[in-house]
Amino acid sequence: MLNTKKTMISNLKSSKSSGRKVMTLMLLALVAMMLSLPAMSVESLRGDKALDAKSVKVGKYKVKSEEGGYERSFEKQPPLIPHKIDKYRITLKNNGCLKCHSEKAYKKEDAPKVGDSHYITRDGKTLKHISKRRYFCNQCHVPQVNSDPLVENTYEGVE
Ligand code: HEC
Ligand code: HEC
Repeated sequence: MLNTKKTMISNLKSSKSSGRKVMTLMLLALVAMMLSLPAMSVESLRGDKALDAKSVKVGKYKVKSEEGGYERSFEKQPPLIPHKIDKYRITLKNNGCLKCHSEKAYKKEDAPKVGDSHYITRDGKTLKHISKRRYFCNQCHVPQVNSDPLVENTYEGVE
């Protein structure tokens, strides 16, 4: 009885150390594999330029104006901006977009009113003024330029 216990313990010990040996061998194999692989270059949208090199020159594109607005690709998509926005600033004190899109101004400016959701806080309260979480319009709404897609893709909008 005592004997079997002893052998069990010694078995356990040896299985532990052989486990370690296997681990070491696996690690060595991994290192060998990494060394033998040709260096693969990872390429981002910035190209394969070194971090401290100048990045690819960005093309000059004109912002598109789309009369009547862009079609949405899915329900609840923040609509794309169909006009230029470089003159409208959003600062702590003033939001240039609201000069046309606010509840007060939209009729006079003949612009679409911000979504009703824009007045609701995250706790579900409806405010008289725009909710803070919708203040920075460009977080969700962006204009479009005439350019090729950055990455080729087969995206199709929902009908
Ligand atoms: C001078 C008035 C004016 C200002 C300022 C303005 N817009 Fe507009 N915006 C319009 C008008 C008018 C339209 C409708 C254009 C059309 O449908 O042809 C529009 C359309 C839009 C739409 C599309 C809505 C839809 O349902 O398709 C979005 C989004 C939008 N604007 C966002 C913005 C944002 C963000 C800013 C600030 C950076 C801004 N706008 C500033 C007048 C303005
Ligand atoms: C957190 C994202 C987000 C922010 C920030 C945001 N919007 Fe929107 N906006 C949306 C979404 C989503 C919709 C479409 C669904 C809806 O109406 O809520 C929308 C809809 C709109 C529409 C069209 C409303 C309609 O009834 O067709 C206008 C115009 C608009 N936003 C303007 C603005 C302006 C101006 C600001 C800044 C003051 C702004 N949005 C900030 C997400 C956002």
